[in-house]
Amino acid sequence: MSQEQILKNTNAKLLDQFNASIMFDKELYTQDIKGSIAHSKMLALQGIISVEDQKKIEQGLLEVKKEIQNGSFVWQIENEDVHMAIESRLTQLIGDAGGRLHTARSRNDQVATDFTLYIKEKNIEISKKLKVFINTLVDIASNHTQTLLPGMTHLQHAQPINFGYHLLAYANMFKRDFERFISSNKRNDYSPLGSAALAGTPHNIDRFKSCELLGFKEPSISALDTVSNRDFALEILFNISTSMMHISRLSEELILWSSYEFGFVKMSDEYATTSSIMPQKKNPDVPELLRGKTGRVYGNLISLLTVMKSLPLAYNKDTQEDKEGVFDSVQTITISLDIIDAVMNTLIINTKAMEKACKIGHLSATDLADYLVQNSGIPFREAYYITKDVVSKANSLDKDVSELTLIEIQSANEKLKNIDKEILEYLNLRNSMNSRDSYGGTSTKRTKEQIEYFRNWLKNDK
Ligand code: ARG
Repeated sequence: MSQEQILKNTNAKLLDQFNASIMFDKELYTQDIKGSIAHSKMLALQGIISVEDQKKIEQGLLEVKKEIQNGSFVWQIENEDVHMAIESRLTQLIGDAGGRLHTARSRNDQVATDFTLYIKEKNIEISKKLKVFINTLVDIASNHTQTLLPGMTHLQHAQPINFGYHLLAYANMFKRDFERFISSNKRNDYSPLGSAALAGTPHNIDRFKSCELLGFKEPSISALDTVSNRDFALEILFNISTSMMHISRLSEELILWSSYEFGFVKMSDEYATTSSIMPQKKNPDVPELLRGKTGRVYGNLISLLTVMKSLPLAYNKDTQEDKEGVFDSVQTITISLDIIDAVMNTLIINTKAMEKACKIGHLSATDLADYLVQNSGIPFREAYYITKDVVSKANSLDKDVSELTLIEIQSANEKLKNIDKEILEYLNLRNSMNSRDSYGGTSTKRTKEQIEYFRNWLKNDK
């Protein structure tokens, strides 16, 4: 071989590698085969191919599927992508009939069909996992509707809440995620198949038939939009990003809570790791990884948004870059939901530490101000300053306001000298938590109401 020929061959190989997506889009083989069977059935019904050819095609495709599943299928880079690889093997197996499959179809509508089918399935799978996790959160919450926890704003102790109520805030986030995954599929319900390269086809196809066979609601109405659309991929990437952000926020709390400073929870030994140098340590690697993996998932969303932003109509090869990020994000959220569910199910909850922490930071101070407004007709702003005096008094005695005696309260400010002893009830932390009884509030009663709401939702929603 001449120098020149060797160089030519090397360049050809390099190009094959650069151009190919087969290494990753083989993930779509089931959807590709499903789409091809539907297409062939439609072609036969329309008399575009013969019934015998259709039978051969269908049997051949099922044979290819078997080969892929038992590992005997050879994925060759020269075939470029999953679509060409399957078609070329089919033609090897059944001869001429294989060559008729691609009538009235292009890889442009084929890949859009395969990827939409894949994403529809994943939206359902992920939403199911979200439900399992919501159920876990509700179960744990139902055991902790009385467990006092310092509710925070600005990461500072603010007002007493219960731990169940805190967990249910996460259940609300994951319920919204669930709804987003489900509602995406409304927009994914338009069959791309039969759009062909960009403008439809002169063959007498029946797109409604292939649409029906694939379980879509209706065929997409514009071939031009369909072959260049990747909104469905962007949506799942956004939905996964939001869900991972929620997992990451919960992970962050677990990391804080499991520190010595908080000591609210302990990760079970299975989900905590040790340090290779400090034998006394127990590290929250698992929630840290969940928090960290959120970064790559955001990256996948930003990558595809960037790929899409300047594409002229219609199909452009740039969109081949849509798949790896989606596969990666799907894999990440799938494992992350399993892991966070297991972490929460095995979490050791230190209710004593939570309740003890409530005695730091005068969590029931607002209750004193509210009491003065309600019972003495004092304007809120004045009550606020009187309460400040009580807080100073408590600080000087090294106590929490919930621990003050009646005399201590009465002596804190001139205006309090006749205050009734019932104020002690108001400053009690549990009473304080239960006094926030407005709809959506933290009282044990309202928390139980929320649990009931979630139980009904879990039962009734598909
Ligand atoms: N592998 C390609 C992709 O993922 C399939 C579509 C190819 N179409 C084309 N006109 N080259 O986008």
